[in-house]
Amino acid sequence: MHNLTLYIDCFFNPSPYTTKPSFISSALIFMKLAMASLSYSFIVVTLFIIPFFGCGANAQLSPNFYARTCPSLPTIVRNAMSQAVTREARMGASILRLFFHDCFVNGCDASILLDDTATFTGEKNAFPNQNSVRGFEVIDTIKTRVEAACNATVSCADILALATRDGVVLLGGTSWTVALGRRDARTASQSDANNQLPSPFANLATLISSFAAKGLTASDLTVLSGGHTIGQSQCLLFKTRIYNETNIDPSFATTRKATCPASGGDTNLAPFDITPTRFDNNYYKALVARRGLLHSDQELFNSGSQDALVRTYSNNAAAFSRDFAAAMAKMSAISPLTGTNGEIRKNCRLVN
Ligand code: HEM
Repeated sequence: MHNLTLYIDCFFNPSPYTTKPSFISSALIFMKLAMASLSYSFIVVTLFIIPFFGCGANAQLSPNFYARTCPSLPTIVRNAMSQAVTREARMGASILRLFFHDCFVNGCDASILLDDTATFTGEKNAFPNQNSVRGFEVIDTIKTRVEAACNATVSCADILALATRDGVVLLGGTSWTVALGRRDARTASQSDANNQLPSPFANLATLISSFAAKGLTASDLTVLSGGHTIGQSQCLLFKTRIYNETNIDPSFATTRKATCPASGGDTNLAPFDITPTRFDNNYYKALVARRGLLHSDQELFNSGSQDALVRTYSNNAAAFSRDFAAAMAKMSAISPLTGTNGEIRKNCRLVN
């Protein structure tokens, strides 16, 4: 498992982050709004400009994008996800993580789905992804069915966005409206994936800045990390926490050590919380009990700025589920390719 070791080494190094121009422009618009009085022009701006620019990068996305060109799309995706989650409940979690890792590297553009070839190095084998992200076959299956129904029409990026929402809902999460119209990248960047995906060994300040670089707030970080209410982690990624850290419930550390030995067992899996196939608020209850699995999980409740929100979600499952849905809609809109940019891939693994 040398790749996982490299992943850890990589994550101990600081990463550069970039700010997206789209978020700068929306910030400027908000500043102008703040300066405006309650005049006619303010109302015009509020009613007509905000819907187009106020949500940042999703300006050109629309829930009805395929209403005429591929009306069966939502049903095809939902049925396929239902089959996949019935076969293996963890798949809902795996697809959610796939989408997070897509969106965080140059936007939600399906770049993570591209296979490496002799002449192309993509994101699949970046340290945070290799032997770790999963669910590619499920996306392939959906794409095949969508192509059969609506040839060369629907992007892989939109399929992944819809599949993610359906997976979360199938495991008990609150639904959200998926705006559509993303196009697929013709490129991918392994180095951007290595540098921009957050590390499980990061501290709170670093996690906050990696989300800020994507236009997401500290609250977004805390609620989106609640994605860890479903799914599992490999032992190597939480080993140092259970053996060396002090901000951890001792009986929890003992339990985890049983399947994550000090030496070896690096790919053994452990659940993030006690209900890894239920989208509930047990993740936050675990954090309050100092039972966070990853170092980065416990950073959200370690006498810092996010303690209060973690406590709120630990006491209010409905608030978490509602806020998670809203934050997912926001994350889903990071820097999409639209219009004539990118392409509609025929095969999600290959550029046309
Ligand atoms: C805040 C920074 C985050 C860090 C450092 C982080 C790190 C990790 C790590 C190390 C794993 C285990 C990977 C493995 O065992 O191979 C994991 C799994 C997972 N992550 Fe995150 N994550 C973060 C945020 C998120 C977000 C924002 C989401 C979704 C909105 C998410 C969803 C998931 C899911 C669902 C899994 C389980 C996947 C499965 O079981 O296949 N994570 N994460």
